Amino acid sequence: MTHLKMGVIGVGGIAQDRHIPSFKRLSDTVELTAVQDVNQERAQEVAKRFEIPHAFSEYEDLFKQVDAVTICTPNKFHSSIAVAALEAGCHVLCEKPMAITSKECQEMIDAAERNDRLLSIAYHFRYSPEAQLAKKAMDHEEIGDPLVTRVQAMRRRKVPGWGVFTNKDLQGGGSLIDFGCHLLDLALWLLDDPEPVEVMGKAYNRLSKTPDQVNDWGAFDHETFNVDDHVTSYITFSNGLSMQFECSWAANIKEDHTTLSISGVDGGLSVYPFELYQAKYGALWDSSAKIREGEPDAGLVQAKNFVDSCLGQDELIVKPEQAMKVTQLIEAIYKSSETGKSVTFTK
Ligand SMILES: NC(=O)c1ccc[n+]([C@@H]2O[C@H](COP(=O)([O-])OP(=O)(O)OC[C@H]3O[C@@H](n4cnc5c(N)ncnc54)[C@H](O)[C@@H]3O)[C@@H](O)[C@H]2O)c1
Repeated sequence: MTHLKMGVIGVGGIAQDRHIPSFKRLSDTVELTAVQDVNQERAQEVAKRFEIPHAFSEYEDLFKQVDAVTICTPNKFHSSIAVAALEAGCHVLCEKPMAITSKECQEMIDAAERNDRLLSIAYHFRYSPEAQLAKKAMDHEEIGDPLVTRVQAMRRRKVPGWGVFTNKDLQGGGSLIDFGCHLLDLALWLLDDPEPVEVMGKAYNRLSKTPDQVNDWGAFDHETFNVDDHVTSYITFSNGLSMQFECSWAANIKEDHTTLSISGVDGGLSVYPFELYQAKYGALWDSSAKIREGEPDAGLVQAKNFVDSCLGQDELIVKPEQAMKVTQLIEAIYKSSETGKSVTFTK
C-alpha cells in the first residue's frame, strides 16, 4: 500500500486545528476519506470545509471506508471507539490521554495485538524540536545516568473555559489528565521508560471554586467545577530515579512555565529551551541549541510518523504500552490523593 485512507472520529477543536490540517498536508501518502461525529451538523460542516468526501453518523460505516482512524472525541470514548476500530481492521491514532483507566488502555492494546493493527497515542510534545534534541542528548549519554527529574507544567489562571475540559464524567479529571499527561509522557520517554515503584500525589480543587474568578481562557462555572486544577506528585522508579512533578491550569504564580529538567551523574539538561549543563576542562560548561526556523510543527511530525508507520515505512514513536504507563501514573496520583497514602506498583 502506498496511500493510506484515513477517517477522523470526533471533529471538534483538536481534529480541526491539528489532525485534519496535518493529514491534509501529507496528501502524497494519505487521503482523508471520511469523518464521523455524534454531532451530525458539525460532521457535515467539517467535511465540507476540508473537502472530505464522507460524513457519517455511525463510526461502523466509517470503518468500512478507511485503513486507519484518528480518534478525537472526549476521553471517555477513546477506549471503546479504539477497540471497535481495531476489531474492524483499522490502525488507530488516538488523542491523549490514551484512556481514563489503565484497564481501558489494556483493552486497547489487546485489541491491537489481536487484530495485528497499529495503535499510537497523540502525545505530540515528543515531536517538538526541543524534545527531539533532548532525546538525542539522552541517547548519546550526554548526562550519564539520570538521577532526578523535575517537571512543571504550569499555567496561571488559565482553566480552559470551552469544550469538555472541566467535565469530569467525559474527561476523567482536570489539569493532570489534560495537561500534565503530556509532560509525564515526555519525561518517561526521555528516561527510557523506567518502571514506577511508588507514587505520592496530591490533587487540589480549590483555586477554581471561589466566585469572581479571574481567568484568561474564558468563563467557567466555579460552583460546578469538580476537577483538579493543581497537582503535585513525587514518583520513584526501580532504577533509582526520582521525579518531582507539578502541574496546574490556574496556579497563583508569576507566569506560565513549562519545565522539564533532568539532572544526571555526568551532566544535566533542560528541554524548554534546550540546554545542556556539564562540567568539563575544569569549568562549568553550558551548551544551548538554536532551533532552526522552518522546523515542521509537532502535529505534522506526529501525523507523518503515524502514516509512514501504517505504510510500513517507519516505526511508531509513541508506543501504546508507553502511553498506558502515563495513565497508570495518573491513576496512581489521583488514588494517592484520595487515600492520603502512597501507591506502590508491583511487577
Ligand atoms: N494533544 C493535545 O494537546 C490536545 C489538545 C486538546 C484536546 N485534546 C484531546 O482531544 C480530545 C478532544 O478534545 P477537543 O478539545 O477536540 O474536544 P471538542 O469538544 O472540541 O471535540 C470533541 C468532538 O467529539 C464529538 N464527540 C463526542 N462524543 C463522541 C462520540 N462518542 N463519538 C463521536 N464523536 C463524539 C463531539 O461532538 C465533538 O465534536 C480529548 O481527548 C482531549 O483530551 C488533545
